[in-house]
Amino acid sequence: MLAATALRASRATTTAQRAASTWANVKMGPPDPILGVTEAFKADTNPKKMNLGVGAYRDDAGKPFVLSSVRKAEKLMMDQKLDKEYLGITGLPSFTAAAAKLAYGAQSTPLAEKRVAVTQSISGTGALRIGGEFLARHYPHSKRIYLPTPSWGNHTPIMRDSGLEVHQYPYFDKRTNGLDIEGMLAGIRAAPDRSIFLLHACAHNPTGVDPTPEQWKEIHAAIDAKGHFAFFDMAYQGFASGDTERDAFALRHFVKEGSIAGEGRLCLAQSFAKNIGLYGERVGTFSIVSSDADEAKRVESQLKILIRPMYSNPPMHGARIVSTVLNTPELEKEWRGEVKLMADRIITMREKLYNHLVNDFGSKHNWEHITSQIGMFCFTGLKPEEVESLKKDFAVYLTKDGRISIAGISSGNVKYLAQAIYEVTKNRA
Ligand SMILES: Cc1ncc(COP(=O)(O)O)c(C=O)c1O
Repeated sequence: MLAATALRASRATTTAQRAASTWANVKMGPPDPILGVTEAFKADTNPKKMNLGVGAYRDDAGKPFVLSSVRKAEKLMMDQKLDKEYLGITGLPSFTAAAAKLAYGAQSTPLAEKRVAVTQSISGTGALRIGGEFLARHYPHSKRIYLPTPSWGNHTPIMRDSGLEVHQYPYFDKRTNGLDIEGMLAGIRAAPDRSIFLLHACAHNPTGVDPTPEQWKEIHAAIDAKGHFAFFDMAYQGFASGDTERDAFALRHFVKEGSIAGEGRLCLAQSFAKNIGLYGERVGTFSIVSSDADEAKRVESQLKILIRPMYSNPPMHGARIVSTVLNTPELEKEWRGEVKLMADRIITMREKLYNHLVNDFGSKHNWEHITSQIGMFCFTGLKPEEVESLKKDFAVYLTKDGRISIAGISSGNVKYLAQAIYEVTKNRA
């Protein structure tokens, strides 16, 4: 009895005690600009609500989609009664080998020459962080990393927290809702020699605007001429065109042409969140193309030294799934079909949204970028106040910059969305 009273008394915190708390001066941080949208969406009770904030694929009924090839791979894995021992620091070798082949191509010379140092990573985010940390420690020429304007919101904090200095290069042209190729080339040429350039390999997030193959050639030539380092982020291989080979064009062109790959001026962050639907499994890779096999081994040894104190070794389930899919010919074939199916559904939704807006509701604005942009996202050009009205009046949730995830639209709600966009933009000057 006495002990309980004493316990209660000791728990009773007074205002004075709270002020003296260790964390009294920790300020409330802002919600994450993307994940914060989902929190607000969840709290909304409107039955018509739509979450177009987060970049996760949904089927045409608006439900999360687990690929059939993934389900089958999991079944095969279950039947094998595999153990749960630790992976090595750089992950599951059958996974990293298959992942590198998918990205660099089956005929890749650096892969054949064993001069690509690859490690498994905690999805694309973890890969970017390993890359940022590695460059901050070991890249001898610069701490400056250039990101496109705009870029995925997490790029800046990842690179800044890695110890790099974040700078920008022009990318998106607001007037045309397309690529500012001249600005981009000028930005590449104006940066100090041997800077680091972050490039979205395909399906640029958030704009949905990618360079054409011809433009990629110009970009490559400009980067090569300045001795810059190319840091590719490939989070959407297959999502842009439905074809993983086509979507790897930029990366493979940079590896094949000029002096970039030979001089070890290229690395890649690869994610399997979107193209195989393994969002929560956190499976990806980070790789650096080195100039020879011995250098690749030294680079790999330093990747291990960097990873070991961060998380020791990566989780295995997702890596086993990807390895099983990519290394089992029937599953790999089925998966390629499923990637195409996801990409095609996105393209269909773009067309429907455009048609409803322009043909059914008669919007007079130019919405051609809805169909010309590619990948999961569309940079609508909606203004912050229009985004706010969409949320308030229609329960349609998206990021403040006007980006919508097309993958979150379905046949059942595309017309509602078109009407909502029409309503909030009809009085625009
Ligand atoms: C451009 C880009 N890079 C990397 C990522 C990393 O995603 P994850 O860590 O889920 O693989 C994303 C996810 O949205 C992205 O859009």
